[in-house]
Amino acid sequence: MNARDIFGGGVAVITGAGAGIGAGLARHAHRLGMSVVLADIDGAAVAALRDEIVADGGAAVDLACDVRDPEAVAALAERTYRDVGPVRLLINNAGVEQFGYLWDTPVANWNRVMDINVSGVFHGVRAFLPRMIAAEAAAWIWNLSSIGGVATVPLQAPYIVSKHAVLALTECLRLEVQLAGHDDHIHVQAVLPGAVKSNIFEAAGGVSADLAGADVDAADSQRDAMLAIKAGAMDPLDAAEVLFEQSAHGGFYLLTQPEQVRSAMTERAESLRTLTPPQLRNKGRFESAEH
Ligand SMILES: NC(=O)c1ccc[n+]([C@@H]2O[C@H](COP(=O)([O-])OP(=O)(O)OC[C@H]3O[C@@H](n4cnc5c(N)ncnc54)[C@H](O)[C@@H]3O)[C@@H](O)[C@H]2O)c1
Repeated sequence: MNARDIFGGGVAVITGAGAGIGAGLARHAHRLGMSVVLADIDGAAVAALRDEIVADGGAAVDLACDVRDPEAVAALAERTYRDVGPVRLLINNAGVEQFGYLWDTPVANWNRVMDINVSGVFHGVRAFLPRMIAAEAAAWIWNLSSIGGVATVPLQAPYIVSKHAVLALTECLRLEVQLAGHDDHIHVQAVLPGAVKSNIFEAAGGVSADLAGADVDAADSQRDAMLAIKAGAMDPLDAAEVLFEQSAHGGFYLLTQPEQVRSAMTERAESLRTLTPPQLRNKGRFESAEH
């Protein structure tokens, strides 16, 4: 079955739909004939995307929602089931980046990454999955991890931690859905994108110059290095098409750039198997960041 057969006519809820990968997923879901519920902390961004999709003949609803707030995510589920219909696809996509040495990272920035990237996914599962189970219709949950979910990267530790966590959460969730006997209609899948064009590096947290001795240059140079990768990154609409087709084919790990992400997976598996400690790569790139 292809993605249109499976998802066409259904309802998709996408968090962080206002930009980047989430907006690409929303546009492609619309092209497949889905009704889309666009949720984002940036209400103006999702309102503009709703107008675009509606003007193109689609069905779209926008809601301002901060995924850090469990009550806001519960209200998103409540309104979706009441006003739009049963959800065929929930995409827990909202996520943020953070640059700098871990010991320079402001507590608020650490909490921001964990609250959005990890707790936001948990809140989505808690708000939607019981309703999906009760509806007894086929439903999918995609959680956004990353190639960073199988990698170790200096100067991005909070983000990398969060993406490993989302991967583990999603793997455990899949087992729990099986254990509880709901895998006949509930499909849990982990999304691991490689580099995709988005606003994530511009919106990322950094290091405060107010903190005595904090290495602001290290954080800034890592942000610059990541921004440089953006030029060769994948278009979000292309990424969305790949992910929808892979999901329809039933795999668990959905990879925007299968070759690149699988190579990181193999490397991770191999370093654990051989007990090889994490290795610094492209050390030149981090030279300005060395203490
Ligand atoms: N872009 C990439 O190369 C890449 C690679 C791997 C994984 N990812 C993951 O993809 C997901 C989307 O990232 P992106 O690159 O499109 O980023 P982006 O910054 O372009 O978009 C993220 C969206 O999330 C929204 N958002 C931020 N905080 C929120 C909150 N508290 N509640 C609701 N919405 C919130 C933002 O307003 C924005 O619209 C993230 O989980 C990210 O970790 C991205």
